[in-house]
Amino acid sequence: MGELKIMYGSRHRPHMKRPMWIIVLVLFVCVFLICAYIYPPQSSSACYIFSSRGCKGFTDWLPPITVREYTDDEIVARVVIRDILKSTPIVSKNPKVAFMFLSPGSLPFERLWDKFFQGHEGKFSVYVHASKTKPVHLSRYFLNRDIRSNEVVWGKTSMVDAERRLLTNALQDLDNQQFVLLSESCVPLYNFDYIYNYLINTNISFVDCFKDPGPHGNGRYSERMLPEIEVKDFRKGAQWFSMKRQHAVIVMADHLYYSKFQAYCQPGVDGKNCIADEHYLPTFFHMVDPGGIANWSVTHVDWSERKWHPKSYGSQDVTYELIKNITSIDTSVHATSDDKREVQRWPCLWNGFQKPCYLFARKFTPETVDQLLHLFSNYSTP
Ligand SMILES: *[C@@H]1O[C@H](CO)[C@@H](O)[C@H](O)[C@H]1NC(C)=O
Ligand SMILES: *[C@@H]1O[C@H](CO)[C@@H](O)[C@H](O)[C@H]1NC(C)=O
Ligand SMILES: *[C@@H]1O[C@H](CO)[C@@H](O)[C@H](O)[C@H]1NC(C)=O
Ligand SMILES: *[C@@H]1O[C@H](CO)[C@@H](O)[C@H](O)[C@H]1NC(C)=O
Repeated sequence: MGELKIMYGSRHRPHMKRPMWIIVLVLFVCVFLICAYIYPPQSSSACYIFSSRGCKGFTDWLPPITVREYTDDEIVARVVIRDILKSTPIVSKNPKVAFMFLSPGSLPFERLWDKFFQGHEGKFSVYVHASKTKPVHLSRYFLNRDIRSNEVVWGKTSMVDAERRLLTNALQDLDNQQFVLLSESCVPLYNFDYIYNYLINTNISFVDCFKDPGPHGNGRYSERMLPEIEVKDFRKGAQWFSMKRQHAVIVMADHLYYSKFQAYCQPGVDGKNCIADEHYLPTFFHMVDPGGIANWSVTHVDWSERKWHPKSYGSQDVTYELIKNITSIDTSVHATSDDKREVQRWPCLWNGFQKPCYLFARKFTPETVDQLLHLFSNYSTP
């Protein structure tokens, strides 16, 4: 090593005195190592300073001491998840979209969905998780589609449990390839074919995910989630997802990360107001398959009033213009909850092309059903 340095040095810097260039070399190596420790490899700015190949190349350079030693459970989780993601997905001759409804009881827009599904039998399946009262169904597509359900408390992991219950039921049908979570106040914005093609002809999941350093984001993180979940990996996103089959399977396979949220992400724990359904899936996917999710939800919701709950559209709001406005959005926008209110925008890229972001919208009040049925004949035609 010493010989090599001397040869190298004397060949390239013959004018420099030997001790001088050794000091320079040692200093350079020190600065490099200090930088490597200060900027973890996730920081993309650091990646580009040190490697033109980006993060992957840089990570290979890092000495392994910066990597935390995983617990047995983490190794198990990572091995299982990696193998599922690397395996060839089940190919179905007849791929279907699973529409999974999370509702307290009856679905006010069943008549609208009935019209939406009509003529597309065999390309979809319906699952209803009614957490309070047994629904009365008006549409044949919803008859006998109730799954065994349990109580759901807003903000608690019982919400995530209901999502998992819907996924488990929907996974039993091998033809289901995309799994869409919808609420009773959601409506479709396009006809069936458009939504079907949008979801089936892509291999990413539409899981909303962004970094919010403010009180409604990282402010809800608890250090008791350590060592597995670090604050740098904590993410936020709307609950309403559409997920590909492999992702639905890894959610089923996860016990480790889920149990951390179950224990430490509940309203009132440690004086924080952690909402499990807004953090579990975004954080989980950010950690295990960040490139596999779109980072935005295909369900539109209007938070512009900045209240605890999003805006509800009543009769006076439901117009052709409203639907046109929502379907013309092709940029995803997220704002942080700190004083900076930093706005993050990125184009909604579908297989590399910028497309409208939203296929569904909420929240619509039940009395708008007739107006929507009337509008639907207009806006849903291709
Ligand atoms: C996703 O699908 C595209 C083609 O639509 C393919 O080129 C790509 O390799 C796929 N990616 C993964 C991760 O399967
Ligand atoms: C989603 O965001 C992550 C960073 O958190 C990024 O690595 C990933 O590429 C993004 N997904 C898409 C489809 O752009
Ligand atoms: C249907 O769409 C046209 C524009 O294409 C619009 O002028 C008309 O008002 C719409 N009809 C209804 C019922 O909203
Ligand atoms: C639609 O968008 C335009 C332009 O942003 C806005 O002026 C209008 O109020 C919106 N209409 C509705 C019904 O949301």
